Amino acid sequence: MKRRVAILISGRGSNMVALIQAAAAAHFPAEIALVISNRSDAAGLEKARASDVPALAIESKLFGKDRATFEAVVQAALDEHGIDLICLAGFMRLLTAQFVQRWHGRMLNIHPSLLPSFPGIDPAAQALGAGVKISGATVHFVIPKTDAGPIVMQGAVGVCDDDTPDTLAERILRVEHRIYPEALRLVAGGQVRLEGDICKTTAGAGSAAILISPTTGCGT
Ligand code: GAR
Repeated sequence: MKRRVAILISGRGSNMVALIQAAAAAHFPAEIALVISNRSDAAGLEKARASDVPALAIESKLFGKDRATFEAVVQAALDEHGIDLICLAGFMRLLTAQFVQRWHGRMLNIHPSLLPSFPGIDPAAQALGAGVKISGATVHFVIPKTDAGPIVMQGAVGVCDDDTPDTLAERILRVEHRIYPEALRLVAGGQVRLEGDICKTTAGAGSAAILISPTTGCGT
């Protein structure tokens, strides 16, 4: 039986769209049963509705600093829709440790860096500031610490000398759209297991591909 997934968003929802499109395939082990935005002006809400996915706005700013009551309303919606798994996709509201514990092993996030490097705000600018030559995106299980937790999948891109935060973020976003559906496929299909802080994949194998950046043209 397909796992029922809720996607939590705050903005444009391009990762949400990638997940909805992947889950439309007959043999995908999950269905997107609900989208929740904590902002009623999130562009992703209309995109979800256009795909016939139920989409709710639960405006977090109405709850001020009372995260627990906001989360109780979110939880009620998750219960009502029989949700098994949560995917955070550009959800820019911190969750309480209690909510995170309740969904331990059942909540994923995507972050546009190769974690544990560059958690938090503007990771593309952080990567450029650090001068790294390779960056990418990470899908991980959510733990109470922000942008941390057992890593399910990563994808990498080379960083170019003339990259700006926007051009690098755009290239990383294309990686995000590939790895988030694949990571959800593994998790919903029961193909990963958690060993403490480490996530292992029981089917499939790590990629042996080598990405070298910058390329020198010397055949290395
Ligand atoms: C994505 O790049 C996602 O990785 C990032 O927000 C963007 C949302 O875009 N999330 C984080 O930075 C989490 N710390 P989207 O709404 O188009 O999917």
